[in-house]
Amino acid sequence: MKYFLILTAITLLTSGPAYAADDGHSMPDLPNVDWSFEGVTGHYNKESLQRGLKVYRNVCSACHGLKRVYFRNLESLGYDESQIKAIASEYTIADGPNDEGEMFERPGRPSDRFPQPYPNDNAAKYANNGALPPDLSLITKARAGGADYIYGLMVGYEEAPADVDLLPGQYYNEYMAGHVISMPPPLSDGMVAYEDGAAETVEQYAKDVANFLTYAAEPELEQRKRMGIKVVLFLIAFAAVMFAVKKRVWKNIH
Ligand code: HEC
Repeated sequence: MKYFLILTAITLLTSGPAYAADDGHSMPDLPNVDWSFEGVTGHYNKESLQRGLKVYRNVCSACHGLKRVYFRNLESLGYDESQIKAIASEYTIADGPNDEGEMFERPGRPSDRFPQPYPNDNAAKYANNGALPPDLSLITKARAGGADYIYGLMVGYEEAPADVDLLPGQYYNEYMAGHVISMPPPLSDGMVAYEDGAAETVEQYAKDVANFLTYAAEPELEQRKRMGIKVVLFLIAFAAVMFAVKKRVWKNIH
């Protein structure tokens, strides 16, 4: 019984999510990045989240929405109220109708969400050669491999092999399902300025933006992991108590 409990505890503590990426295409294994949010004591690296936000805002937001993220959520990235107000006010939000029945535009507020890059899906497709750039709020949950996949996709652009014909506006990417993607390579070295001295390379941008998108999809990850540890510790303690109780109750029966 004791061994069983210990084994169960060890299994619970060491197991992480398992991904099966069998979609019928031969895919190379995803790069296995060492993320700070993995493991039982996983937590977000705030500097990386802030840099990832910058990459999203400067690059990805031109085509991809982030409709489930409110500006006020950026508090978890280490920004205070006035910084969040400043970030929000850089955006223009459509609001209304006002007293005269007119829609109007105003600067963003912390209670607003990130605005959409296109007014609707048709406009988004029209601007992107017929391909729809998906909203990125839940993308790390929606794709097998999560953050590793986002990282892979960012660094996985290659020259197409001779037997693959690409239409105009299509690119070859090692990690995209079917390898053909309609997103032009979004990142290049030096395109986003970092103030904290981190490397301004495609690999670093890819890591930071994957980190940020993981946070966007799972802002409560740190609390969930902390709660998990508490629950397991409680179960172990409770099992020990119940074991002692059982011994006592049955002590006269042989
Ligand atoms: C010029 C517009 C544009 C920019 C900028 C852009 N994307 Fe995309 N993205 C697209 C389009 C279009 C698609 C759909 C591609 C397809 O379905 O072939 C896409 C698809 C994706 C996908 C989904 C791939 C899949 O598995 O279906 C991810 C993830 C993604 N983009 C991430 C990013 C990130 C992160 C950035 C910023 C670093 C970014 N994109 C910048 C246009 C863009």
